[in-house]
Amino acid sequence: MEILHVSAECYPVAKAGGLGDVVGALPKYQNSIGNNAKVVLPMYRTKFLADNEWVVDYKGHIYLGSQFLHYTIIKEATSKLGFDLYLVDIYSLLDREKIYGYSDDVERFTAFQMAVVDWINQWHYKPDVVHCHDYHSGLIPFMMKYCYQFQGLSHVPTVLTIHNAQYQGWMGWDKSHYLPAWDPYKWGMLDWKNTINPLASAIKCADRVTTVSWSYLEELRIEANGLENLFEYEKGKCLGILNGIDNDVWDPATDPLLAKNFSSKNTKEGKLANKRVLCKEFNLDIDKPLIVFIGRLVGEKAADILPSAIRSCFHDYGNDVNFLILGSGEPHVEWELGTMVHEFAGRYNAVIGYNEKLSHQMYAGADFLLMPSRVEPCGLNQMYAMRYGTVPMVRSTGGLQDTVVDMGDKGGYGLRFNHASVWDINYSVGRAIEVYANKVKLSQMRRQMMKIDNSWDKSAAEYIQVYRWLKWTQ
Ligand code: ADP
Ligand code: GLC
Repeated sequence: MEILHVSAECYPVAKAGGLGDVVGALPKYQNSIGNNAKVVLPMYRTKFLADNEWVVDYKGHIYLGSQFLHYTIIKEATSKLGFDLYLVDIYSLLDREKIYGYSDDVERFTAFQMAVVDWINQWHYKPDVVHCHDYHSGLIPFMMKYCYQFQGLSHVPTVLTIHNAQYQGWMGWDKSHYLPAWDPYKWGMLDWKNTINPLASAIKCADRVTTVSWSYLEELRIEANGLENLFEYEKGKCLGILNGIDNDVWDPATDPLLAKNFSSKNTKEGKLANKRVLCKEFNLDIDKPLIVFIGRLVGEKAADILPSAIRSCFHDYGNDVNFLILGSGEPHVEWELGTMVHEFAGRYNAVIGYNEKLSHQMYAGADFLLMPSRVEPCGLNQMYAMRYGTVPMVRSTGGLQDTVVDMGDKGGYGLRFNHASVWDINYSVGRAIEVYANKVKLSQMRRQMMKIDNSWDKSAAEYIQVYRWLKWTQ
C-alpha cells in the first residue's frame, strides 16, 4: 500500500506530545511489513531541520483567500527515519520555532493543508490512502472530495485518526473563502453548530475514522466537546485501534538518553543506578519510592489537582515518598508546582519545561508513574513506563483502562483508580508505598510489565487492513 500520513507533529522532527511519537513510529512499522508509508508535515524551524540534508521535491503556489502564497516541498535526503519525510515550507507562515500557539494558527494550518492537497494533486505518485491525524489535517478529506480543482483526488480514500477530540480547530464562516472553490451544496460537510469545524468535517468526510483506543471511542459518544451526536451518527465508520510504542526508541537496553542501560536480566540494579542519578540531581531520598509525573500541565491530565494531592500525601505519609514532576502548561499550575520545591525540599522536586532526555531518565529511574488523567485518548507514558519497569498508577479511563491491569486483578501489574481526585490519588500512593516495601512483589510486577509487547506490530497491521478494505471497496 502507498500511504501518505499528514500531521502537525512527527518525532524526532517536531513533537509536542504523543501525536509526534505516533506519527514518528507508525509509518516505520507499516513499512517494515512491506508498505510504502510517507509523512508530510509543516516545515518548522527545528533542530532536525538544521541538522539534516534536504532536497527540493516540488514548488507550487496556493491562494489563501486573496493571499497568494508560494510553497516548497522539501524531502529528507536519506530516509533515515524509516520512511520518506516531506516538509511544507511556506515563508513566514510555517517556518516558526513553535508548532502551535500563534494567533494565526487557523491560517497556518489551512495553508499547510491546501499546499499538501495541491501537491498530491499534481504528483506522479498517487497514494492508495491519505491518512489524516487530528484537526490540523481535518479539512483535507473535504477538499479532496468537494473542491473543484482537486476532483482528480476524489476517489482516493481518506482515513482520520483522532488523537484528541478536545481540540477541533474551529474557524468562523467568514474564513470560508480561504478554501479553493467548492461545491456550495456541501457546506454542511464543513459546518458544526454554525462554525467551520475541521475535526467534525473530517469525521463526516473521511472514509474511515479511528480513535487511538477502544475505550476512548466509547467515551466520545458521551463526552466529545460538543461532537457527541456526530459520533453517535457516524459510529458505523468509526473504530478504535490502540496505539503502540516504538520499541527501537523506547528500549532501556539501548536508550542513549539513559545514565545506565538495563534489561529484564538486571532490572533491579539498572533501575537503581538510574534512580540514583535522579535523586542526586533533584535532592530526593533514594531509599523511598519515587513517583513521577511527566506531561502537559493541563486539565485533561488533571495536573491542577497535583499540588493538593501531593500535599495530602506528605501530610498522610510524611517522608515515606518522593515526587518528581516534569511538565509545562497552565501558568498557575506551573507556578504552584514550582513553589512547592522549597516547601518540600528533600522529597519533592519539579522541572517546569519540556526535556526529552530527562523524561527518558525518569521513566527509567522512577518506581511509579502517576497519570490521574480526566481524559486520556490513549496515553503513551504508561506504556513507556512499563517497558522501563516502572509501575503505572493510572485513572481508569480511555487508553489507560485498555493498557493497564490492576495488580489486584488476574495477571495484574499496575495500580488503577476511578476518580481524578485528591482522595483517589492519595489512596493509590498508599498502595504504591506498600508495593515498594514488598520487594518480591515489586520485582515480580516489573518482570511481568517488561514482558508485555506494546509495540506497533499489531496495530500497524490493523491500519493496513483498514486501508485495504477501503481500496477494495472503492
Ligand atoms: P499527550 O499526547 O496527550 O501529551 P501522551 O501520553 O500520548 O500524551 O504522550 C506524551 C508524550 O510527550 C510522551 O512521549 C511524553 O514522554 C512526552 N512529554 C510530555 N511532556 C513532556 C515534557 N515536559 N518533557 C518531555 N517529554 C514530555
Ligand atoms: C493525544 C492524546 C494521548 C494520545 C496521543 C497519541 O495527544 O491526548 O492520549 O496518546 O494523542 O495518540
